[in-house]
Amino acid sequence: MLYESIDALEKEDAFLMKKAIEARGKSYAPYSNFHVGAALLLDNGAIVLGNNQENAAYPSGMCAERVAIWKAGSEYPNMNVVKLAVTASSVNNPVTKPVGPCGACRQSLLEYEIKQAAPFKMLLMGEVGEVIITDSLVSLLPFSFDQSFL
Ligand code: THU
Repeated sequence: MLYESIDALEKEDAFLMKKAIEARGKSYAPYSNFHVGAALLLDNGAIVLGNNQENAAYPSGMCAERVAIWKAGSEYPNMNVVKLAVTASSVNNPVTKPVGPCGACRQSLLEYEIKQAAPFKMLLMGEVGEVIITDSLVSLLPFSFDQSFL
């Protein structure tokens, strides 16, 4: 689903996206200057925030989505994810389109969707502008690898 802006979202979704914006403001991205914030709503009502954490050894850095899902997984191992809002901004140019999660994040997030046996939504936004809401992680990563192969 495509929405014109954060203002067009349902109240709960707009609130979650505002939390993601808050998290984006605390991201540590001195190398890319690309700041990403994530806010995860759990079924116990808790909101878990994450943001990208970069490193001078570039591959050691981590995306906002995985910081958030692992924080949630470690703090609330028995809770289900309801939805995850993500927003990105860049110091170099305005990000006016929703930013799609990288492949590694899709794989990492899918693990938790399978674990909870219930799909969760992603709300994706740039710094401003349109918001895309996806239905499930499996729809973002077809023909994926999972535990059934192990
Ligand atoms: N990044 C995220 O945090 N999430 C995404 O979905 C895309 C990329 C981060 C990783 C890195 O710190 C910076 O954005 C540039 O790639």
